[in-house]
Amino acid sequence: MKHQGTQGPASGAESVIRFEDVTKRFGEKAVLDKLSLEVVRGETLCIMGPSGTGKSVTLRHIIGLMKPDSGSIFVGGHEMSTIKPDDLRDLRRRMGYLFQDGALINWLSVGDNIALPLRETTDLTEAEILDRVNAKLELVKLDGAFDKFPNEISGGMRKRVGLARALITDPEIVLYDEPNSGLDPETSQGVDRLIRELANTLDITSVVVTHLVSCIRVVADRVLLLEAGNTVVDCSPEDFISSSHPRVKRFLGKDPD
Ligand SMILES: Nc1ncnc2c1ncn2[C@@H]1O[C@H](COP(=O)(O)OP(=O)(O)O)[C@@H](O)[C@H]1O
Ligand SMILES: [Mg+2]
Repeated sequence: MKHQGTQGPASGAESVIRFEDVTKRFGEKAVLDKLSLEVVRGETLCIMGPSGTGKSVTLRHIIGLMKPDSGSIFVGGHEMSTIKPDDLRDLRRRMGYLFQDGALINWLSVGDNIALPLRETTDLTEAEILDRVNAKLELVKLDGAFDKFPNEISGGMRKRVGLARALITDPEIVLYDEPNSGLDPETSQGVDRLIRELANTLDITSVVVTHLVSCIRVVADRVLLLEAGNTVVDCSPEDFISSSHPRVKRFLGKDPD
């Protein structure tokens, strides 16, 4: 279904993530209601929308943690309902996921939290793992925090540890769920710049769930407003911010009334 203001990505580019009429119900409620979307290689799609509208559920479908009731999801060339377990494991290695709450393990040090995906999915030696973890700590500006524990560092630092862990396998696709939540403005801007830098320099395909206009200004190539499990608009960040669409204006708090 096409909506007013629906633009989609530039045609001709390689499709990395595609939803075709995806419906997901919990009980009676269709949380995703015939949702279609596409993200092409190297692109950053921001998903905005009121809370409870299916943003996190959308990310969980991309990573294969949830299956749709109907419709199709393609990620990295695989159809997610029929993907073989081995292929799903390979695909997961190519994806990073920054969970909304950071999801760090409290009894593991910062370094061990970041190393976890490497220990679980690769045969790297301990020395190789330490090198990679330290490189990622440097990337998120947490050099020296290897031996700290999650409860010894600030919320902003925990978020950046989650980011380092999402990036530790050098993924081609990174999903960020509210990367700015709980951060002070300065740290929040730092995270935005980092997401942009990664997308630019490593050609990462990204999906960022956010409710901040400041975030979409820095990171988004395209913005999708989700409401009740479907797309209201899908457009450039500039068009989104200046949109006259009543639901966009209401979401941005620019209700004419
Ligand atoms: N595992 C689940 N079981 C039942 N309901 C769920 C589950 N996950 C999410 N939901 C419901 O789906 C809706 C959308 O959730 P979510 O995608 O987390 O919202 P948000 O847009 O705020 O990220 C909410 O009403 C939530 O309660
Ligand atoms: Mg959410």
